[in-house]
Amino acid sequence: MSEVLAASHALLASGDARIGIIGLGYVGLPLVGVFHDAGLQVLGFDVDPGKIVDLAEGRSYLRHLGDDLAQRLSQSERFQATTDLSRLDEPDAIVVCVPTPLGDHQEPNLEYVVNTAKAIGAKLRAGQLVVLGSTTYPGTTRDVFQEAMMDVAASVGSQLKSGEDYFVAYSPEREDPGRSSHTMRDTPKLVGGVDRASTEIATSLFKRAIDRVVPVSSAEVAEAAKLLENIFRSVNIALVNEMKMILDKIGVNIWEVVEAASSKPYGFMSFYPGPGLGGHCIPIDPFYLSWKAKEIGCATRFIELAGEINTRMPEYVVDRVIYALNADGKAIRNSRILILGLAYKADVDDTRESPSFVLIERMASLGARVDYSDPHIPRTKRVRKYDLTLDSVALTASAISSYDAVVIATAHRAFDYGLIAENAAIIVDTRNAMGDFTDRIRGRLFQA
Ligand SMILES: NC(=O)c1ccc[n+]([C@@H]2O[C@H](COP(=O)([O-])OP(=O)(O)OC[C@H]3O[C@@H](n4cnc5c(N)ncnc54)[C@H](O)[C@@H]3O)[C@@H](O)[C@H]2O)c1
Repeated sequence: MSEVLAASHALLASGDARIGIIGLGYVGLPLVGVFHDAGLQVLGFDVDPGKIVDLAEGRSYLRHLGDDLAQRLSQSERFQATTDLSRLDEPDAIVVCVPTPLGDHQEPNLEYVVNTAKAIGAKLRAGQLVVLGSTTYPGTTRDVFQEAMMDVAASVGSQLKSGEDYFVAYSPEREDPGRSSHTMRDTPKLVGGVDRASTEIATSLFKRAIDRVVPVSSAEVAEAAKLLENIFRSVNIALVNEMKMILDKIGVNIWEVVEAASSKPYGFMSFYPGPGLGGHCIPIDPFYLSWKAKEIGCATRFIELAGEINTRMPEYVVDRVIYALNADGKAIRNSRILILGLAYKADVDDTRESPSFVLIERMASLGARVDYSDPHIPRTKRVRKYDLTLDSVALTASAISSYDAVVIATAHRAFDYGLIAENAAIIVDTRNAMGDFTDRIRGRLFQA
């Protein structure tokens, strides 16, 4: 064992290590919280100066996390945040949580990962552990991230050796914003290094803050495991969406069917239908694997088929709205429609890739006048493909009754479903949110 390796191992296992987190978003900020709450010193980096100011002043820019974390961090001597990437030589371990979006042709966009790798490479010093946490295809950590980092390190004269002088690992995030059943601390964490020493050192680091760390034999295994988890979700959601479309036609409620099937104590796992996929992960990550597969001449039929079905779901919901209006003697053109929920899932204010945008755009293109109501999103913000500049409608009895149809796209707990049941002319429900009121609204309720 090299001296550097022994010293780094001892430092990271001791709890005296300083941790740097790059990218203080949905994943990076809770990770700061977990390390900080485990008693470590944390230095947060982000290119967005607004986030740094918010954190210094104790304001949370991620609603679902609440203000408590931001306030604790702002008052702590063990936390600082900065935009200054020249301070990247200060932490003993760095975890990278920058975005991994898709490009215009569904290809991986590793621009943020590569820029971060270069910034780290410019300041890399002996003993540092660098962990990539962004979701990506197998091979990225070694072939893209480490290479970009070491090209820059070499250009500034570094002769550090991997696994002896510095360490690199991949450790995927399993953050699920808004989930209350698990915390980042009690969610097991996979760790795979580019070499054995890196796996061991990264495992020691995460053990300081996470209850269960699961080391695997390589960075590639950890990268592929993360993609398997998300592709598994995408494929199963597509399956249940397909079943929903069939069962709707024969008048059987898919939600009751899933509930019934879930009474089997083994071999079945519940997935629920919806108006389409949203969020930063499930609609995007599978395409990282399909891109890699194409590069090596392999097909990814499950991924493509699931993508096709899930992408079609908003179209299906629009068809159901047309059907429901027709049953009420109305055409969609000139109808007033209220979409309930702009966030892609319940109780969060995250609108990334939300199918609600597709619903609004599609129904507006058919001549409907479409509004939305979302207690967590008072006004639409510009997202990747949409800039709607709409304000959320306050959900009062008179507002609800002024629409020809309401479409429940997101089942926020904050919605008053009783009020909706009482006042809506037609309810198109993509989330089974009206289950308790079915008898009262028979004839006005349409599953979609
Ligand atoms: N959001 C989730 O629920 C979730 C769950 C699991 C995994 N992931 C993965 O984690 C990664 C991060 O996702 P996220 O949702 O936290 O993204 P995010 O957009 O919320 O946060 C990313 C942050 O990185 C910052 N950033 C971008 N480039 C930077 C740079 N060069 N240096 C410093 N900061 C930079 C951005 O300003 C932003 O604050 C992605 O790969 C994503 O797929 C996300």
